[in-house]
Amino acid sequence: MSDLGFDGKVAIITGAGGGLGREHALLMASRGALIVVNDLGGAVDGSGSDKGAAEHVVDEIKAAGGEAVANADSVATPEGGAAIVKTAIDAFGRVDIVVNNAGILRDKAFHNMTPDLVDPVLAVHLKGAFNVTQAAWPHMREQGYGRVISTSSAAGIFGNFGQANYGAAKMGLVGFTRVLAIEGAKYNIKANAIAPLALTRMTESIMGALGDKLDPALVTPLVTYLASEECEATGRIFSVGGGRVAEVFIGETKGYHHAELSPEDVRDNWATITDQTGYAVPMNLGDETALFLPFMK
Ligand code: NAI
Repeated sequence: MSDLGFDGKVAIITGAGGGLGREHALLMASRGALIVVNDLGGAVDGSGSDKGAAEHVVDEIKAAGGEAVANADSVATPEGGAAIVKTAIDAFGRVDIVVNNAGILRDKAFHNMTPDLVDPVLAVHLKGAFNVTQAAWPHMREQGYGRVISTSSAAGIFGNFGQANYGAAKMGLVGFTRVLAIEGAKYNIKANAIAPLALTRMTESIMGALGDKLDPALVTPLVTYLASEECEATGRIFSVGGGRVAEVFIGETKGYHHAELSPEDVRDNWATITDQTGYAVPMNLGDETALFLPFMK
């Protein structure tokens, strides 16, 4: 089989001034994608800005013979999202791929969490993906082609201490992805989410010895595949890091039914309610509702 290539497709990669996003930009550019390198260039907590971060990666891409433009707008506002997409349209005339990767951290145990730790985290991760993708969406619908990859996290899907803000935003991106997969289906727009694990400035203080094995470049092959024309998957979640790729899915047990359900029924049938034997993996609301039907006769 031939290598995956992008044949002039245009990719916006947010937060691509460093870490994972930079790797995505470099590899996809080397495979022929035209890249908008977006990065606000702030610190891990989202403070500050520096347009040099995005420009530096554009220089790297150009030095390697690729094509890219820099954009330093924040994903956190609708105006920022629109400006990022305008950069793609002005430079390359279209947008085929959006990789929602920009992110910040403001960790704190839930009982100490304050609004200044919550709102910016939701704004960058969750609304950021919303803002950029929504501006790109009309172009994707019109051309009958699009690929959206959003960066979720195991911290949200599975939970992690001190990250109620981040976890809520990251699991929000799963819901976002599932709905876009459904709405994009008839326009050949595929939307998927990834939960990466990599040594970057965001994780360097917590990685320990495992960090040596977690080169961020080992996350990029999955993103590159999901961004390619060959990718048929949509509405799916993948875990990726250190060269390992796996699918994460949301399952539902067969369940217990009693037409006159009482609190005691719930207590007394807990083992049946939570028995994972023969679980289902619904891909949309209709699939899930169908699981009720055998009991509703
Ligand atoms: P990073 O800090 O190197 O990259 C994040 C980038 O987003 C930075 O370059 C930053 O300047 C940029 N950014 C922040 N706010 C922005 C805004 N408002 N607009 C535009 N750009 C903005 O960290 P890393 O690890 O590369 O993170 C990339 C994504 O992967 C993030 O969404 C992060 O939450 C996610 N992630 C990373 C994991 C890891 O193990 N490194 C684990 C799970 C998720």
